[in-house]
Amino acid sequence: MGWKIPLSDIEFDLEERSAVQEVLNSGWLTMGAVTQEFEHEFAKYNGVKHAFAVNNGTAALHLACIALKLGPGDEVIVPSLTFVASANAIRYTGATPVFADITSENNLVVSPEAIERLITERTRAIMVMHYAGYACDMPRIMELAKAHDLAVIEDAAHAVGSEINGRKLGTWGGAGCFSFFSNKNMTTGEGGMVVTDDDAVAEQLRILRSHGMTTLTWDRHQGHAWTYDVVALGYNYRTDEIHSALGRVQLGKLEQNNSRRRELTTHYRNLLSEMTPSILVPFQNHPGISACHIFPIILPVGSNRLRFMEQMKSNGIQTSIHYPPIHKFNIYSDILIHSDQLTVTDDIANREVTLPLYPTLTDDQVVLVTQAVRDALK
Ligand SMILES: Cc1ncc(COP(=O)(O)O)c(C=O)c1O
Repeated sequence: MGWKIPLSDIEFDLEERSAVQEVLNSGWLTMGAVTQEFEHEFAKYNGVKHAFAVNNGTAALHLACIALKLGPGDEVIVPSLTFVASANAIRYTGATPVFADITSENNLVVSPEAIERLITERTRAIMVMHYAGYACDMPRIMELAKAHDLAVIEDAAHAVGSEINGRKLGTWGGAGCFSFFSNKNMTTGEGGMVVTDDDAVAEQLRILRSHGMTTLTWDRHQGHAWTYDVVALGYNYRTDEIHSALGRVQLGKLEQNNSRRRELTTHYRNLLSEMTPSILVPFQNHPGISACHIFPIILPVGSNRLRFMEQMKSNGIQTSIHYPPIHKFNIYSDILIHSDQLTVTDDIANREVTLPLYPTLTDDQVVLVTQAVRDALK
């Protein structure tokens, strides 16, 4: 469908094109020097010791779960209001996701109090997700993790460039996972990164990313090794030089793009509070700096969300839902949920709508979207 205003959009220019062309000219495509540069720059930008580029954000999450030694019998506390990949990655290891509620209708990230209530003797880890780029309460969550000896994995797919207390999101826990899927703040089409400050976790990530092998094709091409051993049941979660070349350029544009996303978010907030005060725009006065990955709104109680979205569509404006909560999916119906465990999630998940947000959206288009929102509410 040719949307007048799509939900998200990307803009590549000559910089991306020539970076990719350079890789093609070099004759070396799989992980090599460009990927190493990308990892080095990404680690430096985030202020973290190790970064490993992988083929998508789900692979990053899966590697993080294995490197942090999750397995059958372990419970991992995770919000239900996230993309299904968060919980799937836990399940790939045989561990069980335990779904925690979000904080409030203004604060859609996981509640530390809800996490605390769900800790049992089987809990091994907490996986947080920084919804829309807004920070979970990492100081409090790290305190809880320390008190109960739990690992922390950050799903920072929405949060590249976000921070709280001057520290980048994705660098607080034992491992942080990013996605460079095509709708993300920096994109390589498909792609991801897993970061850690822990040398032992880093060694696991390095080995597991490529079949558990002790050397890479790149090492052998450089004459650094002749053969290899296989020391773990690893995966092929490697990236390649084309994706890494795109990633390097996109990382260079990230600050500027995130800053434009923040400007547009403020513009939306101002217009919506004037024109449609019955709509709640969450994350008012949220601490830290957000990458403003998406722009969620909460419709008034009793609204017909599908009709609202159809109405927006008839104006050529694409909207979305973030997210259908995971505990409602058929494949997750075996996970036990107590009656009051996900009260806020269940309420919000029926009323949330995501409006278009991307750096090339114009101020005038934001006006058009908010006018369409006002009309669709009538
Ligand atoms: C919150 C969240 N977690 C995980 C992922 C998975 O990333 P990918 O699509 O790169 O595998 C995404 C991306 O869609 C996401 O939004």
